Amino acid sequence: MRMVDIIEKKRDGLELTKEEISFAIEGYTRGEIPDYQMSAFAMAIYFNDMTTEERVHLTKTMVESGDQVDLSDIAGIKVDKHSTGGVGDTTTLILAPLVASVGVPVAKMSGRGLGHTGGTIDKLESVEGFNVELDGKTFNNLVNKNKIAVVGQSGNLTPADKKLYGLRDVTATVDSIPLIASSIMSKKIASGADAIVLDVKTGSGAFMKDLEGAKELAHAMVQIGNGAGRETIAVISDMNQPLGFAVGNALEVKEAIDTLKGYGPADLEELCLTLGSRMVYLGKQAETIEEAREKLEEAIRSGSAIETFKTFLAAQGGDASVVDDSSRLPTASYTFEVEAKEDGVVAEIIADEIGIAASLLGAGRLTKESEIDLAVGLVLNKKIGDQVSKGDSLVTIHSNREDVDEVVDKISHSYTISEKKVEKRPLIYDVIYE
Ligand code: URA
Ligand code: CA
Repeated sequence: MRMVDIIEKKRDGLELTKEEISFAIEGYTRGEIPDYQMSAFAMAIYFNDMTTEERVHLTKTMVESGDQVDLSDIAGIKVDKHSTGGVGDTTTLILAPLVASVGVPVAKMSGRGLGHTGGTIDKLESVEGFNVELDGKTFNNLVNKNKIAVVGQSGNLTPADKKLYGLRDVTATVDSIPLIASSIMSKKIASGADAIVLDVKTGSGAFMKDLEGAKELAHAMVQIGNGAGRETIAVISDMNQPLGFAVGNALEVKEAIDTLKGYGPADLEELCLTLGSRMVYLGKQAETIEEAREKLEEAIRSGSAIETFKTFLAAQGGDASVVDDSSRLPTASYTFEVEAKEDGVVAEIIADEIGIAASLLGAGRLTKESEIDLAVGLVLNKKIGDQVSKGDSLVTIHSNREDVDEVVDKISHSYTISEKKVEKRPLIYDVIYE
């Protein structure tokens, strides 16, 4: 087989065989196929797309390019969750203990990430003593015992994706549905879950800005998951404004605790119940999605959700008393209010700008090596559709620096206040099953 013939076939819009896809991906991972041929191949896929069968095989080949996590020692159906990323997205911190509290085993591998705030692992490290490095046996035992454990990523998962994603980044081939879908799903499948719930964000703060694109990506990922033998459901949710109120690391942990206790922000709670009920259903802890949702609501009401969170923190060495005393979390030295300059209704909040403002404070990493400040971030006091009067606080800044002029400017700029009535936007646009 020759790589040039495979590129030519895809360039001409023909369907590739499994052998051809494997030849290209395996050869590239081993370093036998050069970057320039892989670039041309990615560009041919960008223009000519892939069939569902091609996408499934591409994903499987990337899964098999490296280590695969073996969760078979853990009893029950392991359900994982993935979000395509947004601003202030605290859902994993809530969902993991929430669904575990009704019996779904959560064996979560999570990242640190280069976003506006840290990843789930960073956020959890705002709890004093919390250990994110567990060996495989300890991890499996904890999930069997408590139904929940969370560890940082380790091992050599999907090296083919790592190499290809890096190449796509510099060859204008990231924005391709088959390539994005296979990239995301290969990492999820290699992480060992039996079933997957996806949260595909759409809106100004999301990777997929428009709803049509988000739907297309959701269908593509669901088809790959199901085609690879992992039952998959995708929820399409709004990211035209940050989720919940908090954007930051310790601030989001506090928000997660509030939500697990039943007094979190309405949008964050609703999204967690929507995603969580699908996780419980796929984990076969309920016959229907409605029954799953009732179980989750009851777990919040009865306190078993927050108890599971405490048990989870303590089991990994963390100070579980943060649950009852949030002053034990890292706290910033200063707070500042960003005030509304006029009366009206909040019509728009540019989520990306809010994210950048949080990262300017030090809540996110600018490079892989940089340290993040777990205490800093933002709390939104007004969201889209809320009435404001001149002088009201739109956002509270939690900072360890006194000079926050640039941050204030970014936040002011991200808010649009209108005189007209503003419709609240839907939070959930669609749920994709096939
Ligand atoms: N995120 C990924 O992991 N892969 C992509 O291709 C795009 C976003
Ligand atoms: Ca939040």
